[in-house]
Amino acid sequence: MLLRKLFLFIFTPVFAMSVLATPTIELKELKKQTLVVILLGPPGAGKGTQAKMLQRTLDVPHISTGDLLRSNIKEGTSLGFKAKGFMDSGKLVPDDLILDMLFSRVAEKDCTSGYILDGFPRTLDQAKAYHARLNENTKTIALNLELQDQVIIKRLSSRIVCSKCSAPFHLQYSPSKKEGICDHCHSPLIQRNDDKEDVIKKRLTVYHAQTAPLITYYSKNQRLKDVSCNQSIEQVLDEILEYLKSIYSKDS
Ligand code: AP5
Repeated sequence: MLLRKLFLFIFTPVFAMSVLATPTIELKELKKQTLVVILLGPPGAGKGTQAKMLQRTLDVPHISTGDLLRSNIKEGTSLGFKAKGFMDSGKLVPDDLILDMLFSRVAEKDCTSGYILDGFPRTLDQAKAYHARLNENTKTIALNLELQDQVIIKRLSSRIVCSKCSAPFHLQYSPSKKEGICDHCHSPLIQRNDDKEDVIKKRLTVYHAQTAPLITYYSKNQRLKDVSCNQSIEQVLDEILEYLKSIYSKDS
């Protein structure tokens, strides 16, 4: 399914979902590969927003380590208990906890043809441990979602998220249709504990110190495409889809 959709990206002039519905070649002509799209970028750049749209377009799961951790906290697991203090103060959760959680998630059946990683990797050690485990049939594409700190603080201070499915909304830029209610699953919208200005600033400091070095790592070792998120949500998505289309055209 994923490869069929990617094929249709390449050979159709527009990416509308309706166009993606009609196959034009036999699937057996395409090489079987697992596609991993890695969304790098500071907190609030729009990783979750883009991942949710890419998930629908590419028909692969969206894996957010932040959402997995928040589910563990909600369910009261021992992982959630260990992670909560780090998250509420804007620090990273230790690598060993993250890697165990991530590896068990990507081993699930729905990840066989590919998945979108949002918020992982976040340290060089996470990236190295992850890439060491991938088989050669996996194609990884890293996107660096860029946004200036001042814009991020403004965006995150007015973000509200679904208490059930984690879909992000923004009071100004992407409000829900019905105030306080998720458009997708109709659950209440809430503010995240770590979206307070002092914690946002701490998260940005942690990002620049521990996660930004991944930009150099991916530029040297993998593909990396910079995408400016200082444009509308739709424009960011178009730029990402154009890029996926261009590299699949080159590689197929
Ligand atoms: P996590 O949940 O991953 O948070 P984050 O990386 O800080 O990113 P956010 O979810 O805050 O932002 P986003 O880029 O997804 O932006 P969004 O799309 O919502 O991590 C939380 C914590 O968990 C970490 O601090 C850490 O403690 C821990 N953790 C997670 N992963 C870890 C790991 N691998 N290792 C260690 N610890 C880990 O958009 C933001 C807002 O802007 C929304 O309101 C949205 O509607 C709006 N918006 C989006 N795009 C646009 C646009 N183009 N124009 C206008 N508004 C926009």
